[in-house]
Amino acid sequence: MDSDYDARAEYHEVHMPAAWDRLRDVVRETFGDVGPDGVVVDIGAGSGLGSAMLAEVSEAEIIALEPDNTMRSMLVARLDTAGVLERVTVLAQSLSEGLGGLPDRVDGVVAAHMLGHLTEVERTAFLEWIATSLAPGRSALLTVGTEVPPEGTEPAVQERKVGRFVYRVTSHSPVPGRIEGVFEVLDEQQQVVRSLSEASSWDAVTAADIRAAFADHPVEVSEPQVGVVLVTRPAVS
Ligand SMILES: C[S@@+](CC[C@H](N)C(=O)[O-])C[C@H]1O[C@@H](n2cnc3c(N)ncnc32)[C@H](O)[C@@H]1O
Repeated sequence: MDSDYDARAEYHEVHMPAAWDRLRDVVRETFGDVGPDGVVVDIGAGSGLGSAMLAEVSEAEIIALEPDNTMRSMLVARLDTAGVLERVTVLAQSLSEGLGGLPDRVDGVVAAHMLGHLTEVERTAFLEWIATSLAPGRSALLTVGTEVPPEGTEPAVQERKVGRFVYRVTSHSPVPGRIEGVFEVLDEQQQVVRSLSEASSWDAVTAADIRAAFADHPVEVSEPQVGVVLVTRPAVS
């Protein structure tokens, strides 16, 4: 897995809530009616922001699959604090091996901000698994694309105040398929207190790729740049 989140987990935690605020309505609309007998899987669940939102908007049983130890620890802590740990099963695996541990039939799938980490082989296996495992009438919420700009353009900069410090992430994509980030903590004098540089593989999957993979399923795309894609298994007539 070329996407070690251990060192940058802290920065992820600081900057990711904004991305999830953007997804709140669609998560509620898509999964809000899944009851306690239904299962929703959160793949590449990270620090559990999506799993916690699923638990908040629905009564579903949740299966969170997350390979990174640090991210998984944050997920467990978040879901425990939210009082929902009893209905969340945590799988310490990555795709594609993790597919074998998932139920044959699920009432929802979330794969947010993670598809780009998968190899083409892993992605194909995952999308095929969605097509065969989603219950009729149920949906998968996927995000596609990236906000990270290519080399030669201004890098993307995210900043958030944390106490006396500012957490800053500066990222760009030097070549297609790769993202490089500089993660810094700045003090009140704008001096760097600590920093790290990390790179990961990121294949910017597009909404068109998802449409092509799900020829028999309705695919709804909103926000095509950094897109939210809903794939629904047709209900049996
Ligand atoms: C940018 S984070 C997003 C986390 C979470 N989905 C969210 O939106 O807050 C990407 C996550 O994908 C996970 N990941 C990377 N490669 C993976 C793989 N092959 N299978 C499953 N998860 C993977 C990483 O460990 C990381 O937690």
